[in-house]
Amino acid sequence: MPSDDPEAPPPTHPMIRAIAMPADANANGDIFGGWLMAQMDLGGSNLAGRIAHGRIATVAVDAMSFIRPVKIGDEVSVYADLVSVGRTSIKVNVEAWRRARDSENERRVTKAVFTFVAIDSEGRPRPIVVGSDNLR
Ligand SMILES: CC(C)(COP(=O)(O)OP(=O)(O)OC[C@H]1O[C@@H](n2cnc3c(N)ncnc32)[C@H](O)[C@@H]1OP(=O)(O)O)[C@@H](O)C(=O)NCCC(=O)NCCS
Repeated sequence: MPSDDPEAPPPTHPMIRAIAMPADANANGDIFGGWLMAQMDLGGSNLAGRIAHGRIATVAVDAMSFIRPVKIGDEVSVYADLVSVGRTSIKVNVEAWRRARDSENERRVTKAVFTFVAIDSEGRPRPIVVGSDNLR
């Protein structure tokens, strides 16, 4: 996914989009990192859930970087790109990009590697069956 041009968003559709609201901000008026991580978790799990064909749980977040602040009213787009599929786990590169409401310019604001585990109804890891229909 990530383009070499740091100002060019990935050439794919975002997994989710959200508007950062006042309730998501800290006392400085910037958006909480925890809110951004939650959006990234939602975006990454949207991709992982398709691949796992069922229930998943987030087991790890690695290399989390907060690159630039997000402001109230910004549009936040979360992009996800598959890194690898293990026996029961799925690694996904996840990036969030911001766009000010009055601008067409997008800037990368966060990046991380999320690991999700396919789980059964009891919450135990279950093997992922990779077929032609879940890696599109
Ligand atoms: C997800 C969970 C069921 C995994 O259980 P577990 O006992 O660690 O399972 P395993 O040791 O068999 O590991 C399962 C897979 O996760 C991977 N994994 C486990 N911990 C990991 C970590 N910290 N980082 C990266 N991968 C990890 C293992 O390598 C394995 O991958 P593979 O099968 O593809 O080789 C358990 O850790 C759990 O319930 N965690 C809480 C999840 C949660 O509440 N998340 C927040 C809300 S979604």
